[in-house]
Amino acid sequence: MAASTAAASPVGATPAPADAGIPDVRIDRVTKRFGDVVAVDALDLSVARGAFYSFLGPSGCGKTTTLRMIAGFEQPTSGEIYLAGEPVAGVPPYHRNVNTVFQHYALFPHMDVARNVGYGLRQKHASKADETRRVGEALELVRLGGYERRRTWELSGGQQQRVALARALVNHPTVLLLDEPLGALDLKLRKEMQLELKALQREVGITFVYVTHDQEEALTMSDVIVVMQHGRVQQQGGPAELYERPVNRFVANFIGVSNSVEGKLIEHDTATGRGVVASDRGLRLTGVITDPNASPTTGQQVIVAVRPERLRVEPVGNTGADASASDAGWTRVEGRIHQGTYLGEQTEFRITTEIAGELIARRQNASGGGASGIGPGDAVVVRWEDSANLILIA
Ligand SMILES: Nc1ncnc2c1ncn2[C@@H]1O[C@H](COP(=O)(O)OP(=O)(O)O)[C@@H](O)[C@H]1O
Ligand SMILES: [Mg+2]
Repeated sequence: MAASTAAASPVGATPAPADAGIPDVRIDRVTKRFGDVVAVDALDLSVARGAFYSFLGPSGCGKTTTLRMIAGFEQPTSGEIYLAGEPVAGVPPYHRNVNTVFQHYALFPHMDVARNVGYGLRQKHASKADETRRVGEALELVRLGGYERRRTWELSGGQQQRVALARALVNHPTVLLLDEPLGALDLKLRKEMQLELKALQREVGITFVYVTHDQEEALTMSDVIVVMQHGRVQQQGGPAELYERPVNRFVANFIGVSNSVEGKLIEHDTATGRGVVASDRGLRLTGVITDPNASPTTGQQVIVAVRPERLRVEPVGNTGADASASDAGWTRVEGRIHQGTYLGEQTEFRITTEIAGELIARRQNASGGGASGIGPGDAVVVRWEDSANLILIA
């Protein structure tokens, strides 16, 4: 589950820079309590240099608190935070080489764009010439070159957020912390800004730690997603890894949509991670136990999760002559569509089945296949491959 991208240098290789392999941020068993509330619970985390990290989780799971501790606005109750290998307990925010962009970015209304962006440089007594040059560079980065003399209230929400971003980038922080910075923007602009932020991060190479409760946003932007719940890390990994191999129910349901079939684990092989589940309603499902650290016991109650796009839906008559329908390695279930929802690229079918409960299937609309005429009321056969069965122990 560790997602450190830092490679160990081989013995005798050219000496690497002194900081090679040291994570930009290391959180070492950090707990933060507010009275009786445990906001962050014995959190361990390493953020590798130059990557785009997202903290993803529901409201109240401790994302902002974690970010504020990295920035120095809050102190851990216990545990230690390291920036570039150095412990930072007691180091005030302005002496940490990190900058934060908040959702409510609070630009100074009485200053023009250039003076807003240059604020941090003036605090550090940069020369006027230096300030002008670096402000110009930062504004170019966020595609606001030429906006120096504009008043912030003349700008759109998206442009104001870019000014806030430039104001943070102008200090050349090692790490940029972003707390739901696009939360106040409408959907279309938010989508545009997601792609821009991702491109910007690539361009400047600064480590980004991005907080969001929006799974789609995290999937779009991140190299590494850290899924949090109740102040703890549930799983971390790349977007595809989290979607295709969620280690538990929380992650499977928080990222994307899953069908869940309950049952008992009747066989498992720790070496290969394969397992067989007898569902409560009599289905036998072979699949992969996704959590490499799980120690399952035979007979234990588990969930088999299956992504909707892995289900194939065909009218009952169609599959009779289909050889693969009876192939080993496939599950086959009969049911009846009770709802079809057109989603543009896809159509979602809700299918009532005797043996697997309600199933959600999604099918691409572009295919124009022969079976495209199915809809509510139709009797169908639902099939999926064993490789789609994700066995979740916890
Ligand atoms: N200053 C504070 N005082 C008391 N409780 C707080 C404070 N800040 C956060 N909390 C609590 O800590 C928990 C985590 O909050 P937060 O880190 O803001 O979550 P998130 O950003 O994931 O929504 C919540 O239960 C919240 O109410
Ligand atoms: Mg928050």
